Amino acid sequence: MQLILGIDTSCDDTGVGVVALHPDGRAEVRANRIWSQTVHARYGGVMPELASREHVERIDAVMEDALSEAGIGVADLGAVAATSGPGLVGALLVGLMYGKGLSQGLGVPFYAAHHLEGHIFAAASEAQTAEFQLTPPYLALVVSGGHTHLFDVVAEGTYQLIGATRDDAAGEAFDKIARLAGLGYPGGPAIAEAAKLGNPKGVAFREPMLGQSGYDFSFSGLKTAALLAHRAGASGSDLAASFQAVAVKHLLKVTLRAAANLGRETVVVSGGVAANSALRGAFGASELRAVFPGKGLNTDNGAMIALAAAAAIRSGRAPSGLDDGAMAYAP
Ligand code: KG4
Ligand code: ZN
Repeated sequence: MQLILGIDTSCDDTGVGVVALHPDGRAEVRANRIWSQTVHARYGGVMPELASREHVERIDAVMEDALSEAGIGVADLGAVAATSGPGLVGALLVGLMYGKGLSQGLGVPFYAAHHLEGHIFAAASEAQTAEFQLTPPYLALVVSGGHTHLFDVVAEGTYQLIGATRDDAAGEAFDKIARLAGLGYPGGPAIAEAAKLGNPKGVAFREPMLGQSGYDFSFSGLKTAALLAHRAGASGSDLAASFQAVAVKHLLKVTLRAAANLGRETVVVSGGVAANSALRGAFGASELRAVFPGKGLNTDNGAMIALAAAAAIRSGRAPSGLDDGAMAYAP
């Protein structure tokens, strides 16, 4: 059994997790600690320099917490992984350098991980414990504050990007609409909460990109429509309920089209927006087998990075070099 430490500092969460990779290939989350930065709330969005500084201040403590949650010492680690991109470069560098330094100090292999691969594997670990094994091919929808990406996972480690947002990410739309309606930050949970009291037909949103035959997404039109409805006096709860309903419908419709055309039966849905219960309900009720990450693994975290490294180790991928840098846009 090998213990892998995973670090994610790609945005505004300092995440450190520990995963045990068993000889039979099973990967098990032993610890998952996240420090969510709150300094950004007053700006209504993430301030990159402040994010980097907070990561520097917090990473030691989050790491100690993760080790004690796993009941291990630093010398028990067999590998270290950290996100190299995509993300905010200054923020990424903190976790990446920390991870590289640690691996050098311990004399264990280092794995640079792709943030989106982490999001996908966050759900894959959940699936392996159910009665079925998640094996490619399957679709993976990553819906977060920075991404709305639809992948066709054709084989272990081989991802084809088949669709993405043309403008704003889904989570970004949740955040911005919550802000304009005065519902708070981060907007996803605020919208979900307000939506419980609203009428999903209260505001007539037009579903985006109705004419397309491809697999792209768009959220900026909904944002503009929300602003106009807000100015026209729509209540925050109706706005929240109606926006959530149309956003979920859009995400599901495009995913179902891709599944039908490509003959896929399973979809992994992950990223912060995958915590949304309306979205989980709609995907769960569809004809697809929908797999979601377990608790604490939807939003950015370190355990998902350790899970991505576990998959890399399992498939025999060579460790990363120390010259693997931080990338704002990772292919
Ligand atoms: O994956 P994540 O933690 O960070 C990024 O990589 O972006 O995702 C954060 C996003 C935010 O936009 C947040 O508003 C959204 O996920 N989110 C939600 C919910 N919880 C978080 N969106 C909808 N419903 C939720 N319950
Ligand atoms: Zn993310």
